[in-house]
Amino acid sequence: MEPFDKIRAQRQQRHMPDVDVTKGRTIAYSRSTTSRLMDVLDANVRGNVHGGVIMRMVDEAAAIVAIKHAGKGVVTARVDRFDFLAPAYLGNVVIIQCEMHYVGRTSMEVGVEVMAEDLFVGEIRQIARSQVTYVALDENGKPTPVPPLIPGDEEERIIIEKARIRRARMQKIDEELGKIQQNSI
Ligand SMILES: CC(C)(COP(=O)(O)OP(=O)(O)OC[C@H]1O[C@@H](n2cnc3c(N)ncnc32)[C@H](O)[C@@H]1OP(=O)(O)O)[C@@H](O)C(=O)NCCC(=O)NCCS
Repeated sequence: MEPFDKIRAQRQQRHMPDVDVTKGRTIAYSRSTTSRLMDVLDANVRGNVHGGVIMRMVDEAAAIVAIKHAGKGVVTARVDRFDFLAPAYLGNVVIIQCEMHYVGRTSMEVGVEVMAEDLFVGEIRQIARSQVTYVALDENGKPTPVPPLIPGDEEERIIIEKARIRRARMQKIDEELGKIQQNSI
């Protein structure tokens, strides 16, 4: 077998022109890792990696997960938190690990962890985390149903349950903020 044949074969198996939205997909189905070496064009004025570069990479990497899960095109609807925990430096490899945490009817929330690897020292640090929500769109640009998220194992069941609890809390906070905004007009 030639190098990359296995990866190519796996990708071809994924190709599903018609998505059965009654058939659930696991977290493992769409889990994805993206990485890129940071160069001088990625710098901010301090000489570290610009936060906006990482935000863009996160949006692109998380969208891959949403598109794989949905089997359709998606748009970014919301970024829930974006915590920068530590700087990344030029010459580091920024690694973005993304997995599906919650799926509604047409919306999907992807959990993201961002790491920076120093290839010379062999050190990997967590530098950011986020949750990004996407909405699948049909050919008319309208929200369209996506397959449900089903746990593939006990570990996935816990991830999905934690996301459900966190989203319920976020919804309450959203409602409170909405009331405050209404009262301030
Ligand atoms: C996201 C968008 C398609 C939602 O359209 P809408 O008419 O509000 O859709 P609906 O009210 O029918 O909601 C559809 C789903 O999106 C979710 N949604 C809508 N706005 C959301 C938001 N700000 N945050 C999280 N979820 C949101 C709804 O909860 C619903 O989820 P569900 O189907 O899983 O229950 C629309 O607001 C849009 O096009 N936004 C711009 C997207 C964009 O340009 N992104 C940047 C470039 S990709």
